[in-house]
Amino acid sequence: MSDLILLTRETQIADRKVGRLAYGCWRFAGSDLAAAQAKVEAALSIGANVLDTAAIYGFGAEGFGDAEARLGDLFASQPGLRDQVAVVTKGGIVPPEPYDSRAASLIESAENSLRRLRSEQVELFLIHRPDNLAHPAEMAEALTELRDSGKIAEAGVSNFSPAQLSALQAHLDFPLAATQPEISLSRTEPLFDGVLDQAMELGVLPMAWSPLGGGALMTGSGPICTALDRIAGENGADRGAVALAWLLAHPAGIMPIIGSQNPDRIRAAGAAFDLKMTRRDWYALLEASLGHKMP
Ligand SMILES: NC(=O)c1ccc[n+]([C@@H]2O[C@H](COP(=O)([O-])OP(=O)(O)OC[C@H]3O[C@@H](n4cnc5c(N)ncnc54)[C@H](OP(=O)(O)O)[C@@H]3O)[C@@H](O)[C@H]2O)c1
Repeated sequence: MSDLILLTRETQIADRKVGRLAYGCWRFAGSDLAAAQAKVEAALSIGANVLDTAAIYGFGAEGFGDAEARLGDLFASQPGLRDQVAVVTKGGIVPPEPYDSRAASLIESAENSLRRLRSEQVELFLIHRPDNLAHPAEMAEALTELRDSGKIAEAGVSNFSPAQLSALQAHLDFPLAATQPEISLSRTEPLFDGVLDQAMELGVLPMAWSPLGGGALMTGSGPICTALDRIAGENGADRGAVALAWLLAHPAGIMPIIGSQNPDRIRAAGAAFDLKMTRRDWYALLEASLGHKMP
């Protein structure tokens, strides 16, 4: 039996077939329209046609909502682009509170996002972070109203524990479609804390934020980077492709969200699908991350 891990290239969000990589707009601030277009075109060239954004993206660098507005400007300037992509956005972070996931707040957030994105619907709307002061029934009320009115096609959560996701799911009469934790070789907790097990149990799409550890896996050194470099060298690829392939190989169907603002680096991520990674390689990377051999 072959020891090679085969990677699939497609998955589904709402009724759309999409690529298994997403492109993230967190660091979009400062892009002019031409730069934003170059990044999105680079993402589309490798099949990364899921665009991940949030109401809060831009806050601090430009302004609240600015990353969504930039994407909306791009959709307006490129007729046809909106239909080629699935848009994921998030609400519930409201500076300086810091969170507000009460029903009215989530509904208002999603409606404002749609205006900025110049879209009638987003394919997926996520509650960005758990709000300790919002009862899951309130969040469920908002998600249900947004879905019933067609403003969102699917709903999900981000940075929720399995128990928090279950509590919300218990108040919904439709299934949550996605969860978005931080997952990478420098943050492997979701492999062990039930997040990925729950995703497989319920058929929820896990999206991995900061899949390169926010860049640390590319620029750092130490055992994880040494293991990445060995496999990269054997494949004529770069560390990033190996780190992304490691996520893509997990049976939960993880969708890594590319965060680079450099079109060449975005395109380079596509090499992840061509990598020849064995089961032994996969575990060698996990062992390097954990700092010990598997028992
Ligand atoms: N749900 C949440 O709470 C949450 C939180 C954070 C992020 N996210 C999502 O996840 C997406 C990705 O997060 P992320 O940006 O942290 O992802 P990441 O891919 O882990 O990190 C991106 C960073 O790595 C750097 N990098 C990439 N390739 C490099 C290379 N070859 N050499 C040196 N540096 C390199 C990039 O710099 P360059 O731009 O210069 O290439 C960028 O600063 C975000 O855009 C957002 O959509 C979600």
